Amino acid sequence: MEFTVKSGTPDKQRSACVVVGIFESRRLSAAAAQLDSAGGGFLTALLRRGDMDGRAGQALLLTHAPDLPCERVLLIGCGREREFDDRAYRQAVTTMVQKLGESGAKDAVSYLSDLDVKGRDLAWRIREGVIAASGALYRFEQLKSKKDERPRPLKRISFAVADKKSAAAGEEALRAGQAIAAGVALARDLGNLPGNICTPTYLAEQAQALAGEFESITTEVLSRPQMEELGMGALLAVARGSRQEPKLIVTRYAGGGDRKPIVLVGKGITFDSGGISIKPAQAMDEMKYDMCGAASVLGTMRAIAELGLPLNVIGVVPSCENLPDGAATKPGDIITSMSGQTIEVLNTDAEGRLILCDALTYSERFEPDAVIDIATLTGACVIALGHAVHGLMGNHNPLIAELLAAGKASGDRAWELPLLDDYQDALKSNFADMANVGDRAAGAITAACFLSRFTGKFRWAHLDIAGTAWKAGKEKGATGRPVPLLTQFLLNRAAKA
Ligand code: BES
Ligand code: MN
Ligand code: ZN
Repeated sequence: MEFTVKSGTPDKQRSACVVVGIFESRRLSAAAAQLDSAGGGFLTALLRRGDMDGRAGQALLLTHAPDLPCERVLLIGCGREREFDDRAYRQAVTTMVQKLGESGAKDAVSYLSDLDVKGRDLAWRIREGVIAASGALYRFEQLKSKKDERPRPLKRISFAVADKKSAAAGEEALRAGQAIAAGVALARDLGNLPGNICTPTYLAEQAQALAGEFESITTEVLSRPQMEELGMGALLAVARGSRQEPKLIVTRYAGGGDRKPIVLVGKGITFDSGGISIKPAQAMDEMKYDMCGAASVLGTMRAIAELGLPLNVIGVVPSCENLPDGAATKPGDIITSMSGQTIEVLNTDAEGRLILCDALTYSERFEPDAVIDIATLTGACVIALGHAVHGLMGNHNPLIAELLAAGKASGDRAWELPLLDDYQDALKSNFADMANVGDRAAGAITAACFLSRFTGKFRWAHLDIAGTAWKAGKEKGATGRPVPLLTQFLLNRAAKA
């Protein structure tokens, strides 16, 4: 899809479709009112007749526009004007894209970007417009022999800006939106690929492909002997049950001169069967998504490289499969992590923290400004927070505040859980420095407690994305979250420089 910005009033657009908002109940937006008066009051008449009242989710395509140069007019219900917020705006854009796709229009000029969204400026509306539209257009069809053959000739969406002066700001917002959307799409693609294709080796190849595409990115891949050399006993304990070679992927984006780097650590379990502590069969296929933390790291690297941010960012992705096998780690086994701390593995299904702890220790060598890990870590986080927000914990309050703010700005929200010392006792072991699991209580927090024991040397935050990285059911698929949050966080950091 091509996105552009366009100035000029709606009644002058020679486009296949002009899109305007209608508020509840039957209130014309400014752009709709302009069309209406140029077209002899045709919209007022239609609303009076009761064809549409402007509720959110409604849409009405008019295939004939009297006295107007455009071929079609698409009316989008926007709900109550006073309540038109981020969510309502994104929903309006999503509805627009769905309707345009069914309409046969080749291009469209959307005046949704002209609507007032509470507390948001034009740049935000265009950027988020591009991200929401791209999200709605996303399909994962690379593994179907017959593609979805709905006619979808829509080629270009233009967002309206008031005048030529605001066009420059609009263009910049457009580019930001496209960069973030491309990062989200990469994360979704990697997440949706099945475990037999998206292996640790495949993830490493994708990170190398990023380095090939962007001069600012370099990728280094550590294989088993190098990890043995480093003493990564925890990561290697998880990899033991699999025939896939484990990889530690290190992807660097250099745009910030000698600034201290921000390190993003992404859980890259390409399939999590639970290991010897095997999971029930029900919905086990969804554990192909257990590398969505890794996918979000690569997606974010792509977005910031496209944006050319003046920062240094290093992605560290520990990747392997968690499978049962004669050689697999067993409950009760005691392993030594790279930090030297010993771990009693009471449950082989708590494997994410085992690969992450060595990746965190490895991150010390970069003398990071901050380390953020992203992981589909616990089912308990899904129970605590559901699918709306990421679980967020860490050891540095200002860093947590920055991430919460970035979540709000991008609509990709996180929520803090209390990482108090009181929870640390759950990890006591009679035989090693710690156990890898507590009891069932506060599982998302005790998992973070475990990670916290490997983060003493830097500022650290942890995002548990178990509930947010993919959708189950009819709309099953990866969401690409938290690429928007992470990119926003880095955009904010870049602006502070
Ligand atoms: N990858 C899972 C977490 C998960 C489960 C994410 C369900 C999304 C949906 C993780 O490796 C895991 O299995 N965690 C265990 C930890 C437990 C053994 C302490 C869990 O949550 O059950
Ligand atoms: Mn597991
Ligand atoms: Zn897992």
